[in-house]
Amino acid sequence: GHWKHGGIVGVFGYGGGVIGRYCDRPDLFPNVAHFHTMRVNQPASKFYSTEVLRKICDIWEEKGSGLTNMHGSTGDMILLGTTTDQLEPIFYELTHELGMDLGGSGSNMRTPSCCVGKARCEWSCIDTQDITYDITMRYQDELHRPMFPYKFKFKTSGCPNDCVAAIARADCSIIGTWRDKIRIDQEAVRAYVGGELVPNGGAHGTEKRALDIQKEVIDLCPTKCMEWDGKNLKIWDEDCTRCMHCINVMPRALRPGQDVGATILVGAKAPILEGAQLGSVV
Ligand code: HEM
Ligand code: HEM
Ligand code: SF4
Ligand code: SF4
Repeated sequence: GHWKHGGIVGVFGYGGGVIGRYCDRPDLFPNVAHFHTMRVNQPASKFYSTEVLRKICDIWEEKGSGLTNMHGSTGDMILLGTTTDQLEPIFYELTHELGMDLGGSGSNMRTPSCCVGKARCEWSCIDTQDITYDITMRYQDELHRPMFPYKFKFKTSGCPNDCVAAIARADCSIIGTWRDKIRIDQEAVRAYVGGELVPNGGAHGTEKRALDIQKEVIDLCPTKCMEWDGKNLKIWDEDCTRCMHCINVMPRALRPGQDVGATILVGAKAPILEGAQLGSVV
C-alpha cells in the first residue's frame, strides 16, 4: 500500500492533518481500499466535555471506521480509517459544528501539547494551557501547511517534572521553573521523618513510614545542596538545579518557589539512527 503523513490526500487548503493510505490491491482488499487517518487538534491538556467526545465519536461512526486512538503520542486525537469522499464532510462538521480543527502531520508544525498545568497541578509554575492555545492560534499557517524539511514540535510542561517529556520530544520545549527559594514547611518535613506521612505522594507504596531523609532525599540531590540537622532542612537554593526530586519525595513539605517563569529549550530530536537528543537551554 501507500501511506504518507500529508501530501497524497487532504482537505482543501490544508497540507497536513490527514495521513493518506491507499491500498495497492483494492481488488483483493476492497474494505481498506482507502484507510485515511485524520488527526484532530486536541484541546490544551486534553480537557473535553463528554458532549464533544460523543459528537466526535458519532461523526467517526458515521463517516469513518469508528476506530480511534486517543491520544497519539503526537498529542492529537487520531481517527483511523476513512475514505477520500468523507474527508471534506468530516472536516466541515469538525470545524463548523464542534469548533475543532485538524492537527499537524508531515513536515509542518505539529499540534502543540502540554501537561495539565494549573488546572490540576499545584506545582505548575506557568499557565501551560494558555501558552499552548496561544502558540496554536499564532502559528495556524505553520500548523496546516507543511513548509519545513521535517516536523517541528512545541511542548509545554508546568514544572521540571516535565510530564509531557518536552525535553526529549519537542524541538522547542517550554518548561516552568522558579528562581527564588523552594518553599519549606519544616513541620511537615519532621512529619515525614517521624513516619506520620506517606512519602513520594504514595507513588512507591501507600503505607505511612518513616522517611530516611538522608538516604532518600539529601544523598540523592544531584547538586548536594541540602542538609538535615535532625530538626531542620536547609537548602542552598543558589546551587539547586530544580530537578524536583526532593519535592516529589516530600510533596506535603516542599513546593516550588513563587518567582516563576519558564526555561526554553530547543533542539530535541528522536532520530532513528543516532538516538534521542535532549533539548538545550537557550
Ligand atoms: C495501515 C497501515 C498503518 C496505520 C493504520 C498506521 C497508523 C498510524 C497512526 C495512527 C499514527 C499516529 C500515531 C501517533 O501519533 O501516536 C502513525 C504514525 C506513524 N507511522 Fe503509521 N500506520 C500505518 C503504516 C505505517 C507503516 C507501514 C510505517 C513504516 C514502515 C509507519 C510509520 C509511522 C511513523 C514513523 C509514524 C510517526 C509519524 C510522525 O510522527 O510524523 N506507519 N501511524
Ligand atoms: C529496542 C528498540 C527501541 C526502543 C527501546 C525504542 C524506544 C522508543 C521510545 C521510548 C520512543 C519515544 C516515544 C514517545 O514518548 O513519544 C520512540 C519513538 C519512536 N521510535 Fe523507537 N524504539 C526502539 C526501536 C525503534 C525502531 C527499530 C524504529 C524504526 C524502525 C523506531 C522508530 C521510532 C519512531 C519513528 C518514534 C517516534 C514516534 C512518534 O512519532 O512519536 N524505534 N522509540
Ligand atoms: S509537568 Fe509539573 S506542573 Fe505539569 S503536570 Fe507534571 S508535575 Fe504538574
Ligand atoms: S530540586 Fe533537586 S537539586 Fe534542588 S534541592 Fe531538590 S533535590 Fe536538590
